[in-house]
Amino acid sequence: MKIAVIGSTGQLGTDLIKTLDDGHEVIGLTHSDIEVSDYNSCLILNEYKPEVIVNTAAFHKTDQCEEEPLKAFAVNTLGARNVALISKELGATAVFISTDYVFDGTRKEPYTEIAVPFPVNTYGVSKLAAEHCTRQNQKHYIVRIASVFGVAGASGKGGNFVETMIKKAKNNEPIMVVDDMWMSPTYTKDAASVLKGILELQLPYGVYHATNKGYCSWYQFAKEIFQITRLNPDLKPTKTDPNYGKAKRPPFSALTSTKLSKYNLEPRDWKEALRAYLIEKGHM
Ligand SMILES: NC(=O)c1ccc[n+]([C@@H]2O[C@H](COP(=O)([O-])OP(=O)(O)OC[C@H]3O[C@@H](n4cnc5c(N)ncnc54)[C@H](OP(=O)(O)O)[C@@H]3O)[C@@H](O)[C@H]2O)c1
Repeated sequence: MKIAVIGSTGQLGTDLIKTLDDGHEVIGLTHSDIEVSDYNSCLILNEYKPEVIVNTAAFHKTDQCEEEPLKAFAVNTLGARNVALISKELGATAVFISTDYVFDGTRKEPYTEIAVPFPVNTYGVSKLAAEHCTRQNQKHYIVRIASVFGVAGASGKGGNFVETMIKKAKNNEPIMVVDDMWMSPTYTKDAASVLKGILELQLPYGVYHATNKGYCSWYQFAKEIFQITRLNPDLKPTKTDPNYGKAKRPPFSALTSTKLSKYNLEPRDWKEALRAYLIEKGHM
């Protein structure tokens, strides 16, 4: 397949390029190649005539989305709409990368692909609206991930929660992490493999949850990072400060897939994925 990846130097984009390059013709588009919120800029896609367009581009700084809602809707929603329209014209499949933040987090059981979204912040609303726009192209996959870690780091700049924790531990800083927010971590390498499988097996179009298996609180996630790396910082659990940040966050946004196991595509447990990441990143 000829596959275009928008946001190719980002955290997920980097692993998508590596993973899809094995067996496919991959075109990586960076932010300097394409501005998803600008329809005319997106016309660059016509030059490559891809059969699949994967859009990983996003304005995903949750608190900043509250301050800059127009930017959130321009990049996330209009961007998805532009990709949906152009992919439809090309007869290509549109893949939109979405988020656990489309849910309100009031449940105590992981959200499946058929759970009803109800976002509680601007970022989540802009991504849910983007999911709807993506459906303008009947040939679409909406792939939801959450709490991402990958070797490239956010925006390809090396940073993510795991790296922040390790840096703090090595600096002997006391660390407080919330134990009342639950999520399913996602190793970008595993999410990239899931997407590759979805495309190669030509799974039915629709929504897929591609987080690693299981879930944890952010405190448990931090604890596991230190257990695996044998670092021993002063780590303490804390409660969410209701005044922290501008955006409301879903307290329980764990995801699970009821679809992927049928195709042997279910990603491994998050602890195994974390260990693999730490090895790949050279932390052990
Ligand atoms: N990170 C998470 O924890 C998380 C959780 C759930 C879902 N997601 C979703 O997963 C996807 C990938 O996340 P990620 O962590 O890989 O993000 P990332 O590292 O920030 O990568 C996004 C890429 O898109 C590019 N980009 C940003 N705005 C753009 C625009 N307007 N037009 C074209 N390109 C643009 C960025 O380039 P520049 O950096 O040069 O601007 C970057 O290369 C996003 O859709 C996000 O909403 C992420």
